[in-house]
Amino acid sequence: MTKFVVTGATGALGSRIFKNLIRLVPASDIIMSLYNPSGATEDIKSSGVEVRRGDFGNPSTLDSAFAGTDKLLIVSYPSIAHELRVKNHIAAIDAAKRVRVKHIYYTSLAFASDSVATVMQAHIDTEAYLKQSGLTYTIIREGIYSESWPLYFGYFDPSEGKDEVLIPYSDGKIAWVCRDDLGEE
Ligand SMILES: NC(=O)c1ccc[n+]([C@@H]2O[C@H](COP(=O)([O-])OP(=O)(O)OC[C@H]3O[C@@H](n4cnc5c(N)ncnc54)[C@H](OP(=O)(O)O)[C@@H]3O)[C@@H](O)[C@H]2O)c1
Repeated sequence: MTKFVVTGATGALGSRIFKNLIRLVPASDIIMSLYNPSGATEDIKSSGVEVRRGDFGNPSTLDSAFAGTDKLLIVSYPSIAHELRVKNHIAAIDAAKRVRVKHIYYTSLAFASDSVATVMQAHIDTEAYLKQSGLTYTIIREGIYSESWPLYFGYFDPSEGKDEVLIPYSDGKIAWVCRDDLGEE
C-alpha cells in the first residue's frame, strides 16, 4: 500500500490531478495537504480523503501534513517571486526528508536547465535542490498552459482599465498543454 500526499489540490492544476488520482487510488491512500483546508472543494470533501493543513511558509505544518506518506506531489508555488518560491519548495522537500517520504513529484516548467527566462529560475533552483536531496524524484516539466493564451496574444480586458496591450515579440514555436491533460498525465 502506497500513501500519496498532494499539495495545491484546490488549484487549477491540482484539482485536475486530484480528479484523476481518486479514480486510480483508494481514498484511504490519499492525503490532501491544503494551505487552506476550509477551502476544500466539494469533490475533495465528498471523496473521503484525509485533509491536512500544509503551508509552505510554515514548515512544521508540512511535517504533520506529509507524515506517514510515501509519495509527495509538490505543485509549484503560484508566484513569480523567485526567492519566495524556491524557499517554499525547499521547505516542502526538507519536510519530506524529515518525515521519510520516499519519492517526490515536482511540477516544473518545460524550458531546459540553461533557460534565462525569469519564470524558469525558481524551477531550476528547485530541480537542483531536489536532485541533491537524496530522495528519488520525478520532475514534471510542463508545457505552457493553453488556458494562459491571453497572456501571449495581445489580449487585454478593457474593463480592467488598462491602457496597454501585450504583443508577442516575434514568431516562435510553443508547446501548449491543457491542464485537463496535465492532470491526467
Ligand atoms: N505551465 C504554465 O504555463 C503555467 C501557467 C500558469 C501558472 N503556472 C504555475 O503552475 C503552478 C500551478 O498553477 P495553478 O494554476 O494550479 O495555480 P493555482 O490555481 O493558483 O493553485 C495554487 C495552489 O497552491 C496552493 N497554495 C497557495 N499558497 C500556498 C502555501 N503557502 N502553501 C502551500 N500551498 C499553497 C493553493 O491553495 P490550497 O493548498 O489550499 O489548495 C492552490 O491550490 C503554479 O506554480 C503556477 O505558477 C504554470
